[in-house]
Amino acid sequence: MTLTEDAGPIDARPDDAAEIGRSATQPRIMLVDPAHFDVSYVINPWMQPGAWAADPAGHAAAARASFDALRRALAESGATLDVVEGVAGQPDMVFPANAAVILDRRAIVARFACAERRGEERPYLDALEGFVARGLLDEVTTFPEGCFQEGAGDAIWDASRQVFWAGYGQRSIRAATDTLERFFGKPVSRLELATDRFYHLDTCFCPLSGGEVLFYPPAFTEAALAVIHAHVPPEQRLEASAEDAAAFCVNAVNIGRTVVMARAPDHVRGLLAGRGYRVREVDLDPFILSGGGAYCMTLRLDRSST
Ligand code: ARG
Repeated sequence: MTLTEDAGPIDARPDDAAEIGRSATQPRIMLVDPAHFDVSYVINPWMQPGAWAADPAGHAAAARASFDALRRALAESGATLDVVEGVAGQPDMVFPANAAVILDRRAIVARFACAERRGEERPYLDALEGFVARGLLDEVTTFPEGCFQEGAGDAIWDASRQVFWAGYGQRSIRAATDTLERFFGKPVSRLELATDRFYHLDTCFCPLSGGEVLFYPPAFTEAALAVIHAHVPPEQRLEASAEDAAAFCVNAVNIGRTVVMARAPDHVRGLLAGRGYRVREVDLDPFILSGGGAYCMTLRLDRSST
């Protein structure tokens, strides 16, 4: 159920307006309200249920404040936001990047590898069917049973190259990349993830509007790095540092020339500023306690191929 809709842009600057004007629609992003967020299990090495349990009320209040700040940052960057209610007992629903892969008004809903998150599949399906009812999407389907794929966290549309970059090997399985290719009829570049610290592609890989790719090389296997190098020329490779990646700053939302991310180390801020991007930082510490950053907390509804 959609709670609210924020219409952006509130204070988009002229260059954003031009950027948005060029695309058919203004970016439309789904968020999930954090009322049911907590950190109560461990399915990635960043998760700290002990830290959460030391002050649940304090962390919940901080999470609400962080969420509101993210919402503001996205609206001010030009996005229209649809905030959907979460479900009690599914704390990780605040990370709807994992809900589905969406392109050209067609959505395919995730199959979670972790039992802890399978209860999110039905509510995400319901939410996306709600968008069909509102005329914002045309079609919603699901991955076949047992075909684990964790949504846009592991399938990132690269508008410059007109390909999906698909991560596998940690949560999503390689076979799911074939399903993606068939369903959307678009090329898929497959990237095997090497470590459980960077368990979704969005934690270590972020294509930008100007064609650059911000990524953290140690998260990838040698073969995956070769795929990146084959598609992205050296001058478009922006290599994040270990500190940037651990701060969840590769997990960023790019809207036009703005990049919204968690509190950023100087290195990544300088890297992006050097290419003419504006970095908009949000304190996302309560969500980093669950191993998620800005991109994880969003699902783009309006991605389209050209
Ligand atoms: N605790 C969540 C999990 O491990 C965090 C998900 C972050 N989402 C993302 N797209 N990287 O599944």
